[in-house]
Amino acid sequence: MTAVGAKRVAGPAVAPLRGERVPPGDKSISHRALIFSCLAEGPSRVLGLLESADVRATANACRQLGMAVRRDGDAWLLGGVGATGLQAPQGPLDMGNSGTAMRLLTGVLAAQPFASELIGDASLSRRPMRRIVGPLTQMGAHIGTAPGGMPPLRIDGNPALHGIDYDSPIPSAQVKSCLLLAGLYASGNTTVREPLKSRDHTERMLPAYGVALHGECGVQGGSRLRGTELQVPADISSAAFLLAAAALVPGSDVVLRDVGVNETRDGIVHVMQAMGADLALLDRRTFGGEPVADLHIRYAGRLRGVEIPLERIPTLIDELPVILALAATADGISRLRGAGELRVKESDRLAVMARGLKALGVVLEEFEDGMDVTGGAIGGGAVDGAGDHRCAMSFCVLAQVANAGVEVSGCENIDTSYPGFVEDLSAVGGSIRG
Ligand code: S3P
Repeated sequence: MTAVGAKRVAGPAVAPLRGERVPPGDKSISHRALIFSCLAEGPSRVLGLLESADVRATANACRQLGMAVRRDGDAWLLGGVGATGLQAPQGPLDMGNSGTAMRLLTGVLAAQPFASELIGDASLSRRPMRRIVGPLTQMGAHIGTAPGGMPPLRIDGNPALHGIDYDSPIPSAQVKSCLLLAGLYASGNTTVREPLKSRDHTERMLPAYGVALHGECGVQGGSRLRGTELQVPADISSAAFLLAAAALVPGSDVVLRDVGVNETRDGIVHVMQAMGADLALLDRRTFGGEPVADLHIRYAGRLRGVEIPLERIPTLIDELPVILALAATADGISRLRGAGELRVKESDRLAVMARGLKALGVVLEEFEDGMDVTGGAIGGGAVDGAGDHRCAMSFCVLAQVANAGVEVSGCENIDTSYPGFVEDLSAVGGSIRG
């Protein structure tokens, strides 16, 4: 694993991209595997866990709460302490750059018989936490925030939470998972409904840990987790960058193996196909409860602009930066709306992408909840990924078809989700250095 510096020089690619890779493990599933294994009675064995900065933050927090974490060859052995066996941490738990780590663990910590504090880096310290603090408070939790409802979170644990029936105003798997975790400790049932279905890894994984769901998205208080074995699929959100690069560079032919294609995550496949990409899903199978396939992408000419369907937004929320990069080269106008959530991710992704694309000569109009992008030629120059892993990688990918090199600053957090990005892009023939 190579640490990625703040700056990269990328593109243009000099030859077609070719080869096979297994992208790194799914980040969402890896966080959940660690947290659920920590709460489980008995040991768990996890293969394919993502070894990135974000997931390390969750692993370190689980260690501070008492879980033994050990590597055994390709597997991680996790010594669950049981839902009521967590120990009070000695100091603040540092979630680094990870909103998932902070929001999911808050659900657990709100119900403990001890106090805890969750802190994060500069980006995480600007992210909204009221979306979890509000409903957790309704359940009886005591959580203090910094002004504006932001981290750090000071949690005065309350083991006497009560279940709620919660209608979430936003589709958010972090909110949903936080409340279901708290609901495991609460009296009665906790049910979450959302306007559009967000990623459902928590609902798929809890049964693997022996917890029966109550209805489609609910848990019964007092349900207990049992240790399990699981294999984490490769992350479609990381695969998206190599898919995009291969769709852009003439003559490319790339296969990405073992990629999770859960229908709450596969919006990128549908959108790229609608743009005219030659992208096929081969050998569909499952890893535990998660659908997996090998993705075969072949260059198929210039892409077409698309309107991104509103109902697909939750299924491609993390892929929107790279979809905007694809739109920047496509024939015609692409329209994105209903994506205001991008403004409260690791960065304001609409602003960061708009600024970077404009710097490369792309014509676009930015809206509060989206963007209209008119595809055209991509110039060389300097862009800023603003410390946001997905924006930085999107610019590195787009640079593969720029008409001169692109200097991408703000790359320091690429290894929060994709530690081998530079190696993988180089291995298939992409141009990236720095
Ligand atoms: C995640 C949920 C999504 C996603 C994030 C991971 C998860 O966030 O953007 O990268 O693992 O639950 P929201 O729940 O805020 O939509």
